[in-house]
Amino acid sequence: MGGLHKGHSKLIETAQKTERERAPVVLVSVFVNPLQFSPTEDFNNYPRDLDKDCNLATASGASALWAPSVEDIFPNGPDSHIRVHAPKNLQANLCGVNRKGHFDGVATVMSRLLAIIKPNLVFLGEKDWQQLIIIRHLIKDLGLSIGINTIGTVRDQDGLAYSSRNSLLKAAEREKAILLPQLLKKAYSSSLQKEEVDISKINAELNNNGLRVEYLETVDPFTLQLVKPNKRPCLLATAIKCGETRLIDHTFLIARKPIIAIDGPAGAGKSSVTKAVASKLSLLYLDTGAMYRAVTWLIKKNNISHKDESSIRLIVKDLKIEFQTSQSNDQQVMVNNYNITEEIRSPEITNLVSQIASIGAVREALTAQQRNMGKLGGLIAEGRDIGSSVFPDADVKFYLTASPKERAKRRALDLNNRGFSVLNIQQLEKEILERDMLDSNRKISPLKKAKDSIEVITDGMDIDQVINLLIKLFYTRVPKEVWPKD
Ligand code: CDP
Repeated sequence: MGGLHKGHSKLIETAQKTERERAPVVLVSVFVNPLQFSPTEDFNNYPRDLDKDCNLATASGASALWAPSVEDIFPNGPDSHIRVHAPKNLQANLCGVNRKGHFDGVATVMSRLLAIIKPNLVFLGEKDWQQLIIIRHLIKDLGLSIGINTIGTVRDQDGLAYSSRNSLLKAAEREKAILLPQLLKKAYSSSLQKEEVDISKINAELNNNGLRVEYLETVDPFTLQLVKPNKRPCLLATAIKCGETRLIDHTFLIARKPIIAIDGPAGAGKSSVTKAVASKLSLLYLDTGAMYRAVTWLIKKNNISHKDESSIRLIVKDLKIEFQTSQSNDQQVMVNNYNITEEIRSPEITNLVSQIASIGAVREALTAQQRNMGKLGGLIAEGRDIGSSVFPDADVKFYLTASPKERAKRRALDLNNRGFSVLNIQQLEKEILERDMLDSNRKISPLKKAKDSIEVITDGMDIDQVINLLIKLFYTRVPKEVWPKD
């Protein structure tokens, strides 16, 4: 809506730098949308300075700025055009309560802008979180093939979130207003420390300091339905009046850093994809398959039969599996301080591992170790039961798969690269399917697609396409504000 500031600069710069387009054309649209203001709101008073906007957009790398008139967007007046209604559920709380019709106005204009511009990608700020969620729904429900990239809320040095309306604040009001980001930041830290966040106390503190609270609520970040403040993650969002100026801001209350769960059958490309996503998003990489392989190796080395449960129980009890990063950045698997990275990938271990992985004592011990490693989050784990059993509360769950033929082909390539010869690819496909069968039919935590996981079928996709897709989907579930790594 214009009144461009540093938050917009960051959006434009991010769009300009996006890797997905080689030479992106970045169009900045400026349109103060009459449909999203009620008669009592500040449509006439909304900050407008087109010359300043043009300068800022150019300096930030925009290719063009488009400031259409109301007639450009609605040639026969708004009443002659299709109106779009934002979902009722998504406007039942937060700004939807007092700004009746606001999000319908946003959705209507947004669909007109998208229809006229036909962008490949739209860049939106997370500052207006409720609007962002509604626009995501709009694009999905209208079946538009337009991607969305977001940026976390950009703040001024004093912590106040950049907003066009900040220019309406008088100096004394601005001083008062910074209490808002301070309290939100404190709430965020408390949530990470697992301390309680007292909403009524924050409410009172704002009101007592001359910031009139319109709402201060905790909602689910994606459904936007009210939740208790101790639910994690949740969105703590607020609108206040500072003098005559309405300001909104929010924070996320989280219990830990994000966790990604990747499950899927053998040879679907989980390891390479997981490793790359881990490095791009600065997450720890947890290869749980390597842990089951390590146990298999140990059992074999000690000549223990896979039927001898009591010996196996003893061996896994004190087992110390560690991952170390080598100088070449590869992950090394250590068992009781012995490097077994190469040995556990032999066909011999591969053919036995699923039997060992079906033993209750083994699963119990390894699941406990994995959960311990994921206590603080900040990790991406791959395996067979990560989303369904090890981390059922993972922020994003993927089920990565491909046709058996494709998986056998990839596995053969991988074996060849590691110096094993593959004579018969049909035989390899058969072995993969046998392992899938064992993994999917075992009694304890079998391989299955968790109900809330996103299935990604990778036939015909190269690895970079898969990685980019996963990162894009990650950021539909984890705000940039919480994990700004992309
Ligand atoms: O490399 P590939 O995908 O073939 O397998 P892996 O990830 O190294 O896992 C080897 C085996 O460990 C799987 O076939 C499963 O039997 C077992 N596994 C499991 O049961 N649960 C996990 N979370 C990970 C692996």
